[in-house]
Amino acid sequence: MSSRRRFLAGGAVAGSAGLALSVGRLAVPASAEQTGTHAGAHGGGVAGPTFRLGSMVDPNTNGFDPSKVLRDFDYGTVSRLPGGRTLREWEIASSDKELEIAPGVRYPAWTFNGRIPGPTLRCTEGDLLRVKFTNSSAHPHTMHFHGLHPADMDGVPGIGRGVIEPGESFTYEFDASPFGLHLYHCHVSPLAEHIARGLYGTFIVDPPRPRPPADEMVMVMHGFNTTFDGEGNQLYAVNGIPFHYMHHPVRVKRNELVRIYLVNVLEYDPINSFHIHGNFFDYYPTGTRLEPSEFTDTIVQAQGQRGICELRFPYPGQYMFHAHKTEFAELGWMGFFEVGE
Ligand code: CU
Ligand code: CU
Repeated sequence: MSSRRRFLAGGAVAGSAGLALSVGRLAVPASAEQTGTHAGAHGGGVAGPTFRLGSMVDPNTNGFDPSKVLRDFDYGTVSRLPGGRTLREWEIASSDKELEIAPGVRYPAWTFNGRIPGPTLRCTEGDLLRVKFTNSSAHPHTMHFHGLHPADMDGVPGIGRGVIEPGESFTYEFDASPFGLHLYHCHVSPLAEHIARGLYGTFIVDPPRPRPPADEMVMVMHGFNTTFDGEGNQLYAVNGIPFHYMHHPVRVKRNELVRIYLVNVLEYDPINSFHIHGNFFDYYPTGTRLEPSEFTDTIVQAQGQRGICELRFPYPGQYMFHAHKTEFAELGWMGFFEVGE
């Protein structure tokens, strides 16, 4: 029995992160309780390690706020090369940082720029990209990007510059291609742990002709193996903090086009999923084509898979979104959209 399932069965696991979740109902926004759209349909009242009613992580505690991470696109420092081409430059540093991932639960994370997920790097196809990576962690790391690039820019051990040791820097340089929704992550062994500790982020390459204007947001699906046993996860999240968007719903406007850049980096579980209530979305796998492949309300992604979801909310109110792997939902991977006029 995995530690995650022992958790769900109500067993106490005293992990190296000092996990001490209280048993109780899931905390949901007061207004959601009143409208009856609360977690009861999906997990309220389950026996297991959930959050004490109303308790939550203060977004200021960790130095990043998942509500801001959601729409935080980092376009880098932009300049023009001779001939008119765009150059984008970023400085990214890895560091070891203890985060409060649930009330009273501290997790020894490894981060890019002090946050989980790392910054969302965004560019346009054909730009020249320079990413200066500094390893301020006590452990060796790299930045490995998905996309087209030469082997010595791949950020894997033994090729090109290879591993970046603590205190060292290296600048990855490559062209932005192909357009789509990609990711980056550390690629040092043991790979599962280097990723699970938090070293990942979203990498968006916009098509030369931009997608239509929309309320855009990034959702990175991941988990926390707080016991470090490599057997599943004890907590699941989008953009860093389990249950964050239950307490702080994602506010959107009725009938406005919403575009979600959805990335799965979940370690230790083979699949993740995304499901939305009261709505359907167009799905663009990997974002590398401009025509959707599917019109649905649920998609699954293996680790490293990602895709763009486009939708409009026809009705006001609160709508849940969560992993349709409901076990993950009850351990943190759920939230609300709040649709206003
Ligand atoms: Cu690493
Ligand atoms: Cu990868």
